[in-house]
Amino acid sequence: MSTHTSDIKWLFEPRTVAVIGASHDPNKIGYKIVQNIVANGYAGKVFPINPKGGEILGLRVYPSVHDIPDEIDVALIVVPAKAVFQTVQECAAHRVKFLPIISSGFSEVGNLEEERKIVTYAREHGMRVLGPNIFGLYSVTPSLNASFGPRDIPKGNVAIVTQSGALGVAMIGKAAAERMGLSAIISVGNKADIDEADLLEYLVPHPQTRVILIYIEGVKNGARLVRVLKRASKEKPVIVIKAGRSKRGAIAAASHTGSLAGATEVFDAIMRQCGVLRAESIQEAFDWCKFFATSVLPQGAETVIITNGGGIGVIATDACEKYSVELYDDLQILEKIFSPVTPEFGSTKNPIDLTGQATAEHYNRALEAARHSAAIHSVLALYCETALFDVASFEPMIEGNFRAFQETGKPVVFSALGGEKVEQLTETLRRRGVPIFADVTEAVSCLGALYAHYHYRSKPEEVSQSFEIDTKALKRVLEAARREHRAFLLAHEAQQLLRIARIPVPKSAIARTLDEAVRYADEIGYPVVLKVVSRDILHKSDVGGVALDLDNPQEVADAYGAILHNCRAYKPDAVIDGIEVSQQVSPGTQIIIGARRDPSFGPILMVGLGGIYVEVMKDVSFRALPISRQDAIDMLKELKSYPLLLGVRGEEKRDIDTVIDVLLRVGSLLLASEQISDIEINPLIVYEHGRGGVAVDARVLLA
Ligand code: ACO
Repeated sequence: MSTHTSDIKWLFEPRTVAVIGASHDPNKIGYKIVQNIVANGYAGKVFPINPKGGEILGLRVYPSVHDIPDEIDVALIVVPAKAVFQTVQECAAHRVKFLPIISSGFSEVGNLEEERKIVTYAREHGMRVLGPNIFGLYSVTPSLNASFGPRDIPKGNVAIVTQSGALGVAMIGKAAAERMGLSAIISVGNKADIDEADLLEYLVPHPQTRVILIYIEGVKNGARLVRVLKRASKEKPVIVIKAGRSKRGAIAAASHTGSLAGATEVFDAIMRQCGVLRAESIQEAFDWCKFFATSVLPQGAETVIITNGGGIGVIATDACEKYSVELYDDLQILEKIFSPVTPEFGSTKNPIDLTGQATAEHYNRALEAARHSAAIHSVLALYCETALFDVASFEPMIEGNFRAFQETGKPVVFSALGGEKVEQLTETLRRRGVPIFADVTEAVSCLGALYAHYHYRSKPEEVSQSFEIDTKALKRVLEAARREHRAFLLAHEAQQLLRIARIPVPKSAIARTLDEAVRYADEIGYPVVLKVVSRDILHKSDVGGVALDLDNPQEVADAYGAILHNCRAYKPDAVIDGIEVSQQVSPGTQIIIGARRDPSFGPILMVGLGGIYVEVMKDVSFRALPISRQDAIDMLKELKSYPLLLGVRGEEKRDIDTVIDVLLRVGSLLLASEQISDIEINPLIVYEHGRGGVAVDARVLLA
């Protein structure tokens, strides 16, 4: 493969741009793109290409790429799908770096083959493809608007990456209407080559970008995306809107972009793991973006609410709980800070209630007090309109305090609820970049997003933990299954696999004679369980192939004979490999642990409340592998049934260390061999703290 493609910087900051399919017809996309490039004042060189030659908007039109004297960093392709491949071939001869393909008509309509052919060819010739099926890109650094979206894109520090072109174009319009400045907006379309992870490589270190918004429908190379997102979220807030959450939505997304949407639970959990902020709606995402674009990061977690109304204070308090915003609750210190500035009948407990008689001056003094207190790290200032409201004093008070808080390095968010005058005030201030909302929940949601980002950044860097697996022994087990063309392991093989990973399993041995069975039972200790081992008998209990609660040699001997008799009666020609004698496990808390290769994210790990109700309760949590020990702890804490492990109603705490250990070992096992596609332990029986646990049943599927 040729390697003349340089880094992703040249896609965003090209020195030269060619538009292949530039049209003389002002109604065509190929004209609009040239028009946008020119109108936006792009500083580099532009080369419209069209076999007819001539001029477009004063620019010389070249009949072909071959006629261009310069090296081309970006060649936008705006010709019908059937002509794209030939164009790409011409670009290869001219050593173009990046090929944004605007044209539709590829995998999104089932034409996967043509898309693959183009990308393979491009990559073989050192070129990278953006799209196809995109609206283009906008990038502030060279002032390049190479899109057929709106002409006036407000400059700023929000970068948007979008899988949907139409939505992207609409978001440009919305950004302009809401005065949200953009540092870049780029559409990835069918993501045949360049994907979100590639673009983040540029946007994360990009100085003008303070916040990144991604609209995503389906994930393709999830394992890489996870690695990039984890790093990105440490640097700047990354907000994701994921479409295709509902079953219907997922089908629509699949047919829309030709890529399948990942399962919601897995996606949610992995985004959380990566520190990514998941917005519920475009409006919420925009609110967060605007807030992040101006807000400073807090220095700590303590928030106070300052209000003139009890009701709105309560709503805000509820919202703080929902969005994990911590309210400062040291009553003595609160009183010390706020009693000098709180009117009679007010409250200095958090929320600080300045009462219905509060004027702009009261707010001013309370906000000043909060700003100067080292105990308080952020403020929510709420206002309900009263007869004392006047725009002339509130407007400068709010804006002045916002700027002062910014300088101090403390976040503040405002909410004002009332009639027309209050709405006008809110609108005016928002246009000036002041974070103020009519709805108090929206205000808290912004602060919640800021804190989620703050907490992720503050988390110490975790090293992923893995256990060494004896790969030779592992191979031997897997090869036995391969030889018999099985895509699964037999029960005793699965158990062997767990033993290799040093996961505790019940003591067991396979007996081939009655004497052996009795001897093994004596060695293991009573009570024991006997189970037939036969690939011809899948549902052992149903045919009388299992015997439980065997307390002495006589019972073992009787059960041995009965099992053989039952199995022969069921299937006279069944191959019986032996009878497994195993320790009868005493009851405990049942946990399920699974690891599998997710089609979007690669190796993932799952833990949950186990047993037969797993499907009904769906109380599980996921992570992308590899994980750290802390991740394993967090996974358990996410479970609704976590209190069961801590012990409820006087029960003793369970052996949580064993669960964590098994979780990490199952992860290591999956990562140790590409041949394993699924491992599931259900149940892992967990005993009281210090007494360990045991994996009673395991299922292993092979790739
Ligand atoms: N090299 C250079 N120029 C060429 C070549 C070539 N090999 N082949 C054709 N051209 C010229 C044509 O002569 C024409 O110029 P002209 O108007 O001067 O004659 C120009 O390129 C365009 O070709 P047309 O055949 O006129 O195609 P048209 O402009 O109608 O459509 C387009 C091309 C826009 C790529 C179309 O095929 C398409 O895919 N449209 C959908 C685009 C889209 O929606 N993308 C997703 C965006 S996301 C969203 O939804 C907003």
